[in-house]
Amino acid sequence: MKKKRSSFKGTLGFVLAAAGSAVGLGNIWRFPYLAAKDGGGLFIVVYLILALTFGYTLLTTEIAIGRSTKESPLTAYKHLHPKFRWIGTLACLVPMIIMPYYCAIGGWVLKYLIVFLTGAGETAAGDDYFTGFITSSTEPILTTVIFLFLCAIIVLGGVNKGIERASQFIMPVLVVLVLIISVFSLTISHKDGNVVRTGIDGLKILFIPDFTGLTIGKFVSIVLDAMGQLFFSLSIAMGIMVAYGSYVDDKADLGKSINEIEIFDTAIAILAGVMIIPAVYVFMGREGLEASGPGLMFIYLPKVFAQMGVTGRVVGIMFFAMVLFAALTSAVSVMEAVVSSFCDRFELKRKHAAIIETVIALVFGVIVCLGYNSLYFEVKLPNGSTGQILDIMDYISNYLFMPIVAIATCILVGYFASPKYVIDEVEKNGSRFGRKNLYVVMIKYIAPVLLIILFLQSFSLFG
Ligand code: PHE
Repeated sequence: MKKKRSSFKGTLGFVLAAAGSAVGLGNIWRFPYLAAKDGGGLFIVVYLILALTFGYTLLTTEIAIGRSTKESPLTAYKHLHPKFRWIGTLACLVPMIIMPYYCAIGGWVLKYLIVFLTGAGETAAGDDYFTGFITSSTEPILTTVIFLFLCAIIVLGGVNKGIERASQFIMPVLVVLVLIISVFSLTISHKDGNVVRTGIDGLKILFIPDFTGLTIGKFVSIVLDAMGQLFFSLSIAMGIMVAYGSYVDDKADLGKSINEIEIFDTAIAILAGVMIIPAVYVFMGREGLEASGPGLMFIYLPKVFAQMGVTGRVVGIMFFAMVLFAALTSAVSVMEAVVSSFCDRFELKRKHAAIIETVIALVFGVIVCLGYNSLYFEVKLPNGSTGQILDIMDYISNYLFMPIVAIATCILVGYFASPKYVIDEVEKNGSRFGRKNLYVVMIKYIAPVLLIILFLQSFSLFG
């Protein structure tokens, strides 16, 4: 007899867990930077339009596949068409590749939280502090392992008592922290020589559309930036939404939940902009806004906090606690995509599957850490950037495998299984599928074309 599948107790639990996956480092360290770089309000409008069309299509597709098959990414796709079984393998490989390096970064966040909690935040503002930390031999490994164990504990707790419960606690706290820091960020001002910069000036950079120097080429690059960001931000093509979808009750209103997940993710991304852009602009001026990723989070922001004096310590603690929460719920979802795949495919118990994935992530997580120490080397990647082991893994998952999974999913649903498969799933139990016609056009024609362009961009084909 087939074992009964675990499920989320409530729709809210599902929405918070999926939003927990979607809200992650991307919202915090990349969205604000892209908005500042790509014309403020202009980028935000492009992003919103893409979220309502492109993002919505891909998110709906994955969650519907999960709920209708009630299976993990590794095994679900073959039920739509036997020729597409391989998508499942890739969609399970992606989270396996992401997990180790996401834990390494989660470990860095943990380290910074501890530094601020112990009152040493100012040392973290030193020029070489971050490099010194990640190139040291044991500490980054230790923080990676702690972060990984935190995830493993939640995943071992199960869908209900682990993931759902943790999300229901973490996500509201995260929202409160984001709101407090955002409001604070708007109230600050700083005198730099003769100029006084205020938080509101920073807010204008974020929201007012800036058309200066806008050419068609620049506009295309804004659209590509928004699309890449959206794709990553919604945790699409990582197997995650299929896994989470498989735990959703048949009676739940899928369309409504999907809207809520999108609104949650986008709202937090915009609020992250409100939190970060004014603070960085006030203390570092325009050039501060040129940093993104680890540079922004671990080098620039500690400098900003240091300039705020005692308040900076409190803000620093709140900020890194918030980032840790965001990273943790994302990492949990990555781990769950793998664990559910192992359970379904090899008929393993959750406990055993979780232990196996923890060991795999541990081994590769240590290798990622050593990539800044004894295994250090530099490579040039096809997208033009240079990097270490972490960047290679990030490139393979985000720039190669994920677009392939998403393109193949569009072709599978658009031409082999039929869009009706997804529509019927959403409309089950009388739920409404709001943008049905749009969905069909998107999944068959527009989304695959956009994704192919995004994929080609991984090789810097458009400069
Ligand atoms: N969606 C997350 C973000 O925006 C990214 C992510 C989630 C990455 C899960 C990996 C796994 O940061």
